[in-house]
Parts: sequence; C-alpha cells; structure tokens
Amino acid sequence: MSKNVLVITGSPRRKGNSNAMVQAFIEACEAKGHSVQRLDAPYLKLSGCMACEKCFSKGRPCTLADDDFNALAAPAIEKADAVVFAMPVYWYSLPAQIKMVIDKLFSFVVGGRDIAGKQYALIACCEEQDDEVFSGVRYCLRKTAELIKWTSFGEVCVPGVLKAGDIEGTDGCARAAALADAL
Ligand SMILES: Cc1cc2nc3c(=O)[nH]c(=O)nc-3n(C[C@H](O)[C@H](O)[C@H](O)COP(=O)(O)O)c2cc1C
Repeated sequence: MSKNVLVITGSPRRKGNSNAMVQAFIEACEAKGHSVQRLDAPYLKLSGCMACEKCFSKGRPCTLADDDFNALAAPAIEKADAVVFAMPVYWYSLPAQIKMVIDKLFSFVVGGRDIAGKQYALIACCEEQDDEVFSGVRYCLRKTAELIKWTSFGEVCVPGVLKAGDIEGTDGCARAAALADAL
C-alpha cells in the first residue's frame, strides 16, 4: 500500500552525512511507490514554542508565531502516514532546528488534534565511535512517540562519521534505503 512519507531533516549541510542517507531512503521509498515530502528544518522559518497554550485557538497550529511550522510542517505532519526524523547528533542531543519542529508537536496535543497512529523512524549520525552518543536523540523520539501514540518502524544510527562524505565509507546509505522495506 502506498503511503505518505514525511522526512524532516536537521542538518544544515546539504551534502552532509545524514542528508546522504535521507537521499537513499527517499529514492528507495519512491521506487516502492510511496509519496515523499521532505522538509529541511535548518532552511525553514521556525521559532521555538513559547508555551502560551493557545494552539489552534485562532484556527492555526501556533497562534503566536505564524511561521513555517504552521505553513508547511503542521499540515505535512497531519497528512503523513509515516514521519522520518533525520539528523546529526549535536552535543549529545538534537540540532536546535529540528527540535523546534518537535517542540511544536505540542500544538497538536494542546489543540486536541488527533495525530495518533502514525509510524516514525530515526536516521542519525555522529562523529564519535560510540553507540551511546545516540541516547539523547533516541530517548527524545521514543518518549515523544509514546506520548503521541506513534510506532517506530526502525532506525539507522551511524557513528564514526565527521566530515561530509564520510558516510560513503559505511553501510549507512544502504541501511537507510533498506528502511523503506519496513514501511
Ligand atoms: C554543533 C555540533 C555539535 C556536535 N556534537 C557532536 C556530539 O555531541 N557527538 C558527536 O559524536 N558528534 C558531534 N558532532 C559531529 C556531527 O554529528 C558529525 O559531524 C555528523 O557527521 C554531521 O552530520 P551531517 O553531515 O549530516 O551534518 C557535532 C557537530 C556539530 C556541528
């Protein structure tokens, strides 16, 4: 069955390691007939959640800041059957740009919008050669998904890549492409 897949990326490096894996994933998805939308968080106009809790009170997700979360991310999330979060590890956590999108998932909760039942996956990379470096990113996504009732369809976490292009010396892109089989 063809699915609507949303990929939200967190690296500003367009030719970087996580984006190379995203490219492989998207190509594999499209070859299977899925419809893919991609949003590059570092290149969106985004602002942080101000916790005003007035979400959807004026018809739009974020009432305070009518940014690209409202214009692009929120409608894409509502439409998606599956959401893939792709990013490098920044300081043992998520890059701020993609975290702003995740923080604003709060608007669906406060606004009483039903986004339960979607699938999600994680594509990530980091410099250090230690799988534990992914703990912060994994924990954030796993607990967030539990709360909003999304289920994981997999993850590809590749340690030991620093410079753009280092991913080519790993099986990261092949594993990212194989992730499409799990949809
Ligand atoms: C601001 C910043 C913070 C980083 N923090 C970490 C870190 O905590 N641990 C780590 O292993 N690598 C860290 N890195 C390295 C990146 O995760 C690594 O270079 C990765 O391959 C970048 O992925 P990209 O090419 O998709 O941007 C950091 C890089 C930057 C720019």
